[in-house]
Amino acid sequence: MNPRLTTLEPSLIRELNARKRPGDLDLGLGEPVLPPDQRALDAGLRWLAENGCRYSPNLGFPEVRAAVGAYLGRPAEEICLTNGSQQALHLAMVTALDPEKDEVLVIEPGYPAYAKIAQMLGLAVRTVGLDPKRRFAPQADCVLAALRPETRLVVLASPNNPSARIWPARELEQLCAELGERWLVFDEVYRELYYTPEPPPRPSHPRALLVGGLSKCASLTGLRMGWLGAPPELMPLVLRAHQLITTAASTFAQQVALELLTNGRLGDQRPLYRDRLGSLLEALRASELEFVEPEGAFYCLVRVGGSSLAAALELLEEKRVVTVPGVAFGAEGWLRLSWAGPPEEVREGVVRLAEWARLKLSRG
Ligand SMILES: Cc1ncc(COP(=O)(O)O)c(C=O)c1O
Repeated sequence: MNPRLTTLEPSLIRELNARKRPGDLDLGLGEPVLPPDQRALDAGLRWLAENGCRYSPNLGFPEVRAAVGAYLGRPAEEICLTNGSQQALHLAMVTALDPEKDEVLVIEPGYPAYAKIAQMLGLAVRTVGLDPKRRFAPQADCVLAALRPETRLVVLASPNNPSARIWPARELEQLCAELGERWLVFDEVYRELYYTPEPPPRPSHPRALLVGGLSKCASLTGLRMGWLGAPPELMPLVLRAHQLITTAASTFAQQVALELLTNGRLGDQRPLYRDRLGSLLEALRASELEFVEPEGAFYCLVRVGGSSLAAALELLEEKRVVTVPGVAFGAEGWLRLSWAGPPEEVREGVVRLAEWARLKLSRG
């Protein structure tokens, strides 16, 4: 068997979920629970009724690639449609790097799959942590100081999972200006879920690899629709790898994406999340818990101190609230709450978390 896979650590998110009992409050979810846009699903089905459900060209239907390209500000030729953004992350790493010598730098706190995909591919991985005292604010200096000559790819998400922070334009500009010929995987799967006045800035770097999809913004995690925007010199390798790994993205999923993109509906659910964020913040401010104020996505880091795994297990056992230990993301001492669910459940979860924290303090 493949030792690169047998030695990968199991997911802590799954472990906590496996312990969940009926009636527990679930703030551990990594996916939206809102219903998806029925019009887009209907349009996809209509297309299949008229055209059948055959393979698309390997990189995707030209009109769908063009629509994604317009969304990303890139020509259609630089787009590959993928089965979820997760596959785009894999494609980026499998095509851009040489496992014999290249290293990936992962910025933490971050999505655990970045390091695991790299390990699966036999790539060296190093992590650099953003400062918890600055509430994990994205800082170019900190990332640039961690680069080595063998570091050939940096991966980050904006908005971020789990910190829900967004890379501000000036930090992103500095990062891009000093990255040199390295690749920058810019994961924007949460792009449409932002609560800042402006949409999240995008990197301007000749080797930026943009990763996105419909999962989070459109409540379509199960559709598996994503994309990779890559510079022209990488596209022949993207085509080769994509062909071998999955042939093409789902024909139905591509048609759903086309409908949402051409009608500008990717951001339709943002106001609902904005309301939910308001209710979360109210509960957190009343709780006296220390937290990182979300700028995007639907997560929030709350400080518990000490072992986050012990905290998550205790909270589940004593207060019946599912959370995810920050250690899974490189944020030890913090818990990740997901506030994608019904506001009353999220508020109740915060109240129970605060009770648990007070009890813990009084026990010493
Ligand atoms: C930061 C980040 N990137 C990518 C993904 C993968 O999403 P999907 O493959 O459903 O597009 C996730 C899923 O949780 C995520 O949190």
